[in-house]
Amino acid sequence: MNKIAVAGTGYVGLVAGVCFAEKGHQVTCVDIDERKVELMKSGKSPIYEEGLEELMRKNYAADRLEYTTDYVAAYQDADAIFIGVGTPELADGSANLSYIATVARQIAESVEKDCLVVVKSTVPVGTNDKVEQFIQDFLLKDVRVEVASNPEFLAQGSAVHDTLYADRIIIGTESKWAENILMEIYKPFNLPIVPVNRRSAEMIKYASNDFLALKISYMNDIANLCELVGADIQDVAKGMSFDDRIGNKFLNAGIGYGGSCFPKDTKALDYIAKQQGYDLKTVKAAIDVNTDQKTVLFKKARNRLITLSGLKVAVLGLTFKPGTDDLREAASLENVPLLLEQGANIYAFDPVGRDNFEKVYPEGQHGTGSITYVDSPQKALDNANVCFIFTEWGEVKALSPSDYKNLMRTPLVFDGRNIYSVLNMEEAAVEYHSIGRKA
Ligand code: UGA
Repeated sequence: MNKIAVAGTGYVGLVAGVCFAEKGHQVTCVDIDERKVELMKSGKSPIYEEGLEELMRKNYAADRLEYTTDYVAAYQDADAIFIGVGTPELADGSANLSYIATVARQIAESVEKDCLVVVKSTVPVGTNDKVEQFIQDFLLKDVRVEVASNPEFLAQGSAVHDTLYADRIIIGTESKWAENILMEIYKPFNLPIVPVNRRSAEMIKYASNDFLALKISYMNDIANLCELVGADIQDVAKGMSFDDRIGNKFLNAGIGYGGSCFPKDTKALDYIAKQQGYDLKTVKAAIDVNTDQKTVLFKKARNRLITLSGLKVAVLGLTFKPGTDDLREAASLENVPLLLEQGANIYAFDPVGRDNFEKVYPEGQHGTGSITYVDSPQKALDNANVCFIFTEWGEVKALSPSDYKNLMRTPLVFDGRNIYSVLNMEEAAVEYHSIGRKA
């Protein structure tokens, strides 16, 4: 059992803290937000994540998990302090490291015994060298503090599962002492551990995320070509997936990748390369394809219809993927303003993301267009002229082709997630436009 403090209770920090407690460690999660801390103490999670609240309550009741705003008390006698604060993107594509710097300073001023600082947040290669130096510079006590890199590979919506059953644990350290501490912390997880140096660990995170982003953009690029040459992207992906060297995951063409990670990490690596005077052509291409892909459906709709003005437009799904309320870099955020600008009357459905979207686009009139939120896909489709599918929520997938035919005024569907078979839609007399397949 180790005494662990975790800085930041977002996706990365909170899930890590809860999972460490679940594996028997004594964990204190630190956040500056008093209300968030009170919420967590009452057994509620500030983020929507399957299975998380159950583990929070279980480990809190077992006295293995605490929440506090008092970082001094949490850090002073910790064996390891994990940093899981955000590194949002700055306007130039670089990572904003100010949250990490704040935590590093607090650690330097609080620790009273030897301790390992472990950075889980995604940071540009070389950052942890600087974090270590920064801590040394501000350290008040004569204790040993080193910094390790331990990147996180969890995906939103399956965060707890991804952490407890991770494919691999990457630990990037510069000494045997640091490596041993992390080995011990992760021993109860019984997962493959890959010890590397600190800079390689930092790079593994970017290289992994950017590879997946590239894989998606490649499939989107091929999908667009499929449409032009009369091939079907789903059949093409299926045929490719039997090759073990390619694998069967992340081959789904669609409306472009969103979320807080792929868009940010592709831009960050491009920025890192530029700083080194290196042109990272592959990642740049992934970014370009993704930017265009987000509005591909809107362009199809505009070409098909003279105007969207005054039409009732059903929008199914607002979040960047199902299983989350996160809207960051979601295709809906690109398309809704374009539809409103055209004067469309949008009826939007999203089972979880509605509240967040409403903060950006309140219900009512927006110029010549308008937006109304409804609590079922059926209500959105009722008497609609056009439908856009942006997120493959279960509630949306549960609709049959005949639902579109029966509910809509004119069954014209633009599907950014390739949910339906082209043939089934054709048989139900629905005009169906999707990605990389026959219209
Ligand atoms: C991603 C990675 O999958 C995690 O391994 C990583 O830890 C995380 O970023 C991070 O850096 O924190 P996440 O952004 O939660 O996780 O979501 P994904 O499930 O990877 O989906 C990202 C986007 O790609 C979504 O918009 C999704 O719809 C899209 N996608 C995914 C496709 O368009 N096609 C696919 O085949 C797969």
